[in-house]
Amino acid sequence: MRRYLVEPSGPLVGTVRVAGATKNEGTKLLAAALLAPGVHTIHNIPRVVDLDIMIELLEVLGARFTYLGPESLSIDTSGPIHPNAPYELVRRMRASINVLGPLVARCGEARVALPGGDAIGSRKIDMHLNGLRAMGAHIEVEHGSVVARADPALFGARHVLDFPSVGATENLLTAAVLAKGTTVIDNAAREPEISELCAYLNRMGAHVLGGGTSTLEIHGVEELEPADATLIGDRIEAGTYLMACGIAGGEIEIEGTSIDHLEIVARKLGEMGMLVAPTTNGLWARASRRLTAIDIPTLPFPGFATDFMPMAVAVLCVAEGTAIVTENIYDGRFQFIDELARMGADVRNEGRHAVVRGLDRLQGAPVTAPDVRAGAALVLAGLRAEGPTVVHGGEHIDRGYADLAGGLRALGADVHAV
Ligand code: EPU
Repeated sequence: MRRYLVEPSGPLVGTVRVAGATKNEGTKLLAAALLAPGVHTIHNIPRVVDLDIMIELLEVLGARFTYLGPESLSIDTSGPIHPNAPYELVRRMRASINVLGPLVARCGEARVALPGGDAIGSRKIDMHLNGLRAMGAHIEVEHGSVVARADPALFGARHVLDFPSVGATENLLTAAVLAKGTTVIDNAAREPEISELCAYLNRMGAHVLGGGTSTLEIHGVEELEPADATLIGDRIEAGTYLMACGIAGGEIEIEGTSIDHLEIVARKLGEMGMLVAPTTNGLWARASRRLTAIDIPTLPFPGFATDFMPMAVAVLCVAEGTAIVTENIYDGRFQFIDELARMGADVRNEGRHAVVRGLDRLQGAPVTAPDVRAGAALVLAGLRAEGPTVVHGGEHIDRGYADLAGGLRALGADVHAV
């Protein structure tokens, strides 16, 4: 069990560099590497717990890994691939479902355990399955696993997603690159990590148009070749430092990210009274007074990401005024507010809404992280509390952050993971 020990903090000052987006980009590129037999190298991919799980899963499927440096990893997919993703691994990480599209495309069949829900709500995969069916796959759910067969092959199709699901877009995209004919995915997710996946697939020889827009057009090719990639800076980690500055005050620089990935976060924090501006390789931010509360709804990219919502609630807990936060993506992502309440926060939730009344300070307390982003939010809340805060369940934070405590220490905070 990991714990994050957080001392109250004065204004943050300094520069921090964000790590590569291992959790939300790196794991997906590794799954996509199954499509092209051979050796692929991924750079700027720091170790986080979810990477270790993805490596374990891909090894079971037949891939081989070699670390070329602390943040450079090669994956060899030239050996035989066994298209069977077992429950013991899939249940530990939602992104495991990303092997489904590549396995069906490469092997013509796949058996992947259903991932199930988790601490932030039910997480269905109906859109993944319906999209693959539209491409001609036969799909059954048998004994807790998805069994998919491309018999005789996957064919290009036009498919409209009910909702711009990140995972469904990725799975359909990675199946379509080797399908016969042209696939169009409408209402596709537009997250920067998806644009990066499109670019990676094109470097492998795929023919994907429209990455970063709502319409992806994929012209299937016969085969793909291995390619290399360098991950983008983790925008959620960058946003976490912005929120930390909003909570503790101060003036910080964040390197290795782009305003293009954080536009709405910067705008919302600006409306609350922070100054945020782009620099040549990142962002500068200053919070010189207590922030003012504003309402925040979460939406798919380029809207305000649900992954920032718990941190935004933490910011609002110490802002001036009352705000309503609406969670539009997940049905169970407010569980963490009871932990904030243990720190004295005035926050209540009803269905998809939370009402947050800002207080000047919170009280340090022992609390427990239910998931990665809520864990980060509790760490940030501790910066503006009286007395120390101990965040238990720190292993959830480690699923997505390579070194959150170190990043906050670079800004002058007293945070340690033990
Ligand atoms: N959904 C369905 N049916 C589907 C697919 C999704 O109903 O077939 C629903 C889900 O139940 C959920 C919503 O749609 O309520 C969003 O799901 P989406 O598929 O977009 O999310 P995901 O691919 O499972 C990724 C990130 C999440 C992030 C979401 C939304 C990874 C590994 N995970 O999940 O990241 O919240 O997109 O942006 O990329 C995190 O980093 O903390 C995290 C949870």
